[in-house]
Amino acid sequence: MCGIIGYVGEREMAPLLINGLKKLEYRGYDSYGFCIKDGDRFHVLKKKGRISEDESPLKKIQGNFGIAHTRWATHGKPTEINSHPHFDCKKEISIVHNGIIENAEQLRKMLEKEKHVFVSETDSEVIAHLIEKFYVNSLEMAVKKAISLLDGSFALAIICKNEDCILAVKRGSPLVLGVGKNENFIASDVVPIIEYTKKIIYLKDEEIAKITKEGIEIKNSKGKIIDKKIAEIKWNIKQAEKGKFKHFMIKEIFEQPEVIKNVLRGRIKDNKIKLTLDINFKKINRIILTACGTSWHSCLIAKTLIEKYAQIPVEVDYASEFRYRNPLVSKNDLLIAVSQSGETADTLAAIREGKKKGAKTLGIINVVGSTISREVDSGIYLYSGPETGVASTKAFTSQIMALFLFALYARQEKKCKIDPRLINEIKKLPEKIEESLGEVKKIKSIAKKFVDSSNFLYFGRGINYPVALEGALKLKEISYIHAEGYPAAEMKHGPIALIDGNMPSVFIATHSKTFSKLISNIEEVKARGGKIISIVNKEDKIARKCSDFAINVPRTIEDLSAIVNVIPLQLLSYFIADMRGLDVDKPRNLAKSVTVE
Ligand code: M6R
Repeated sequence: MCGIIGYVGEREMAPLLINGLKKLEYRGYDSYGFCIKDGDRFHVLKKKGRISEDESPLKKIQGNFGIAHTRWATHGKPTEINSHPHFDCKKEISIVHNGIIENAEQLRKMLEKEKHVFVSETDSEVIAHLIEKFYVNSLEMAVKKAISLLDGSFALAIICKNEDCILAVKRGSPLVLGVGKNENFIASDVVPIIEYTKKIIYLKDEEIAKITKEGIEIKNSKGKIIDKKIAEIKWNIKQAEKGKFKHFMIKEIFEQPEVIKNVLRGRIKDNKIKLTLDINFKKINRIILTACGTSWHSCLIAKTLIEKYAQIPVEVDYASEFRYRNPLVSKNDLLIAVSQSGETADTLAAIREGKKKGAKTLGIINVVGSTISREVDSGIYLYSGPETGVASTKAFTSQIMALFLFALYARQEKKCKIDPRLINEIKKLPEKIEESLGEVKKIKSIAKKFVDSSNFLYFGRGINYPVALEGALKLKEISYIHAEGYPAAEMKHGPIALIDGNMPSVFIATHSKTFSKLISNIEEVKARGGKIISIVNKEDKIARKCSDFAINVPRTIEDLSAIVNVIPLQLLSYFIADMRGLDVDKPRNLAKSVTVE
């Protein structure tokens, strides 16, 4: 993971890099560091912890040419020494790295034999020493030779005392270049540079960019100068800020009515689904959905929807498993990757594996221009704006919506009718989410009662079983409370043994074809003294009666209910984590974008 930023231009360097790193902290925040070039001197600062915790020493650093890094530790503990930038022996070459060098140990041994002295435990430091080894009088040549020896993934920004440029190069990890007037930028993604420029170049693997104040020169792997397309970013900095909200997570939860409108905008007209996908459904025998974390939960929901509406068999696979199990894939398979960031390393590798085996590929992606979005044959963007809280919220609901549209589109392509009542119900979703959000006060008071719980169980059935999984994931990742999600009927096969007076159980108990069965499960928990929090429809009397706490959501059709029902679960975990005094947006050990295996 890790975040990189680099700048060359006329602005004051330190505030720009500080600001940029704060925006990249969602990629990792174990430690941070800067190297600012001032004539032929390097000003270096490296610290353990988050940038916001102590930034005053940085403000004193002068210079207008530099690189910076926020770290998510892989090789070596989060210490000052292990933080980036890393240097060669003579401290003339400085690098920041995002990715993992898999042959770092062999390279380190080779370099140590050549008298290179290492100071950190990181894999990244070998890169600086390799560049030193090959440096004669051209940084670019030295970098080319160095990266030819690297196995693994990297996005690198490199500076050297003898040259007035930043070099950027990548393999497998993301890197974008921002084009300004008398200034240019490098970053892991557009968020830290969007307030300065909306003109972005997406660097491809093995391309090398030389960035100076005056311009950006990019060469392909053969050393030929190439003309790259400059993309224009449509969203603005306001969308990437917290505004009146205490945390990004709560802001993003409340954005969901708007986000659903965005994902639907222009995609439904006269009862028809308008998507531009290069897919011949007559030739698709099977769909494989692949993703990680919350996005994987969206895939589980989509399986039910696609099989029902498009009548195509669907398999769901964790991307991290799919990529390594030598899956049977044919050219009649459609592989769909679902990813908010579009950068998740496992999901990217799964797509590459599927492509290699001849499958057609489709991406359901939020971040425009991200690596996965550029590698798939066709895609559906979520247009949800930046999601900054590590806990995914608005991406989840918009992914389900996009996948629902896809299921209906496939149905339409197979010349089957779409019930207009379904379209009507879809259009009502933004206001129904708004209604779910209206329970915020009640949810806060319930959170207060359970803030000291050590464990939680979540139960749901059918389309709401993945919602139970998602509720449990949300709670554990930001509140550090152990939580598990189960299909409610599985309770009697084991989890029921956990029920006692200290075990809260959250039931998604809205209208469904298995409603009466789920009520029996609630009764079984109640009979064993468990505490019950239920998500119920407003008009419901039955589930409400057997629950200790009931949270209202408006009724919709069962197939759409996941989008409405997950809202109270997001709020519940948010308030519990906040009441426990935790850093909701940046939970320990996690990062927003998981670009390592
Ligand atoms: O960017 P992606 O959707 O590919 O990310 C996948 C997971 O890393 C992500 O959903 C993760 O599980 C979230 N922290 C969950 O809130």
